[in-house]
Amino acid sequence: MQNIKKYIDQNKDRFLNELIELLKIPSISADSAYKKDVLKTADEIKSSLEKAGCENVEICQTKGYPIVFGEKIMDKNLPTVLVYGHYDVQPPDPINLWDSPPFEPVIKKTELHPEGAIFARGACDDKGQMYMHVKAMELMTQTNQLPCNVKFMIEGEEEVGSASLADFVKENHEKLSNDVILISDTGMIAKEVPSITTGLRGLSYVEVEVTGPNRDLHSGLYGGAVANPINILTKMIASLHDKNNHITIPGFYDKVEELSKEERAEMAKAPFSLENYQKALDIDAVYGEDGYTTNERNSIRPTLDVNGIWGGYTGEGAKTVIASQAFAKISMRLVPNQDWEEITQLFKNHFESIAPKGVKVKVTPHHGGQGYVTPIDSIGYKAASKAYADTFGKTPIPQRSGGSIPIVSLFEKELKSKTILMGFGLDSDAIHSPNEHFGVWNYFKGIETIPLFYKYFTELYK
Ligand code: BES
Ligand code: MN
Ligand code: MN
Repeated sequence: MQNIKKYIDQNKDRFLNELIELLKIPSISADSAYKKDVLKTADEIKSSLEKAGCENVEICQTKGYPIVFGEKIMDKNLPTVLVYGHYDVQPPDPINLWDSPPFEPVIKKTELHPEGAIFARGACDDKGQMYMHVKAMELMTQTNQLPCNVKFMIEGEEEVGSASLADFVKENHEKLSNDVILISDTGMIAKEVPSITTGLRGLSYVEVEVTGPNRDLHSGLYGGAVANPINILTKMIASLHDKNNHITIPGFYDKVEELSKEERAEMAKAPFSLENYQKALDIDAVYGEDGYTTNERNSIRPTLDVNGIWGGYTGEGAKTVIASQAFAKISMRLVPNQDWEEITQLFKNHFESIAPKGVKVKVTPHHGGQGYVTPIDSIGYKAASKAYADTFGKTPIPQRSGGSIPIVSLFEKELKSKTILMGFGLDSDAIHSPNEHFGVWNYFKGIETIPLFYKYFTELYK
């Protein structure tokens, strides 16, 4: 394709500044205090799609936050690429751990990003990566190189479970009909090791509550004589893994897909340094399920993790008290073939069954979703692979990710199309953490690679 680099070069500053403006709006979907900002972000996405050359751009209202839709139909006989992304972001807390305010983007150089990285909540997940597609679209329309039809669907509830999008997809098969879905909301192995994400884990997220006595008690007067909900909760949680770090919930592994020796050997070829991994996290050892490597543990194996735990007295000083209640939020990452609703039920049954007498246990399911795997012989994968080969000078490595984008399996079920996950983030970009950032180099590499995907997909489709 002609002049991709030239167009990017000529518009570099504007491409960066537009993203910076978008990152200034705190579109935190989890916190209703930011409702206006989330809605304002949707408006901004709408006008950016219009400027990029999309037609029929609309803000589609839902029960929750709106979905921004836009399209450019060139010719009914050409293939259609549906781009998905999200404009909502995670809450920034703990805010005191940020080196600069999360919604005042700054570009700073780091060891991995000598060209600079944009520091802001949403820089990588997913405003920065989603905006690469908007700019790639602008580039293709401005240089008359859009080779096929395009549809954009950008939602504002991904970080809270995509409930409205699920309804929207079910109700709009025709409007969303496509030949391939393209998403940049994952990562790659390293700047010099391009990769394409071929799998995502499923998710089951639950909250548990343990209730003991009907009021907080003096820990001297009652201690030792009644069940302490915090002691009980932590004991119950500890029992969910055995000494080999296997999960103890009966039936949990029944449907887990076991990879063949060959597939595991293939996976092990991806470059990985345990030393660097440990160094980056300042840990002296990794920890996990016996019999699996670190990369296997965080991608092809299911997990159970406490995400938050609270109860009792946590203020200054000491208060001698046995709390009436204790709580925890627990996530289970699932692998293909595990059904998230079934796993949620297994968890609930088991957790209730291990509660000792003297406490009541309540399990409340939150959200969840199925895992996803995509083959590497589809034309979508081949097109992506060729695109990366052009811009990185290397064939990308297929890699399963440990993260989840639950809506992807719903896309396949409802729209009958495969999703190609072209992520340009790095694990060190600190998504969901303080000091989230996205490399300037990665941002422009994405904008450069995406148009080539369109080109190769259209060629291979014929
Ligand atoms: N973009 C992430 C998922 C992701 C990141 C996948 C990196 C692979 C590599 C997405 O925004 C996300 O955070 N998903 C949530 C699940 C969702 C239901 C809240 C997750 O994985 O925790
Ligand atoms: Mn995301
Ligand atoms: Mn996220």
